[in-house]
Amino acid sequence: MKEAKFITLEGVDGAGKSTHIDFIRSYFKSKSLKYILTREPGGTEVGEKIREILLKDEMSPITESLLMFAARSEHLLEVIRPNLINGITVISDRFTDATYAYQSGGKGVSSSIIRQLKMIVQEDLEPDLTLLFDLPVKVSIERLNKTRVLDRFEKQDYEFHQKVREAYIKIANENKERFYIIDSTKSINDIQYEITKILDIVTK
Ligand code: TMP
Repeated sequence: MKEAKFITLEGVDGAGKSTHIDFIRSYFKSKSLKYILTREPGGTEVGEKIREILLKDEMSPITESLLMFAARSEHLLEVIRPNLINGITVISDRFTDATYAYQSGGKGVSSSIIRQLKMIVQEDLEPDLTLLFDLPVKVSIERLNKTRVLDRFEKQDYEFHQKVREAYIKIANENKERFYIIDSTKSINDIQYEITKILDIVTK
């Protein structure tokens, strides 16, 4: 691999991201590539504290956006930029596309506010690759209800998740050079085959 890559993973809640993260981790290990796996909100000591508040406490959509970017600021400063500079690929379970999808698409914060926060915090750094795990909301909600205790975002209704899904698809269509949409209704084997093909190209 010529240089470290910044890879982000996105999708509606319940789209199977966690299962595929394990596979992505094993891909990087098997190729002996240098990588770190991190997440948002979170990924730093301060970021994880902010995550706890975000997933538990009720707040306005604007406060939510500000806290997402506060955590992201720490994450970029402490984890993302230093690792990329040191030649280590960063795989982040969610990043700024999630703020566009959830806080703007789902909760109605204007996209110009998100854009301004992004400019302050993120400057010109963009992911090299974003895998969007996409699933019809009816299926993702069924999966969520089967699995575990739900957080504040996962508990939102069908309409909210539908708006989030639509926002993600819109962002993906506007950023085709870095997005790859994975149809999460496919079998795990088929998805793993697809992920392998994409990672083979990106890490070449
Ligand atoms: P996770 O369950 O994928 O770890 O993400 C935690 C929740 O946080 C998930 O429901 C999506 C939400 N979220 C946002 O609403 N905005 C953001 O910017 C990020 C990074 C996550």
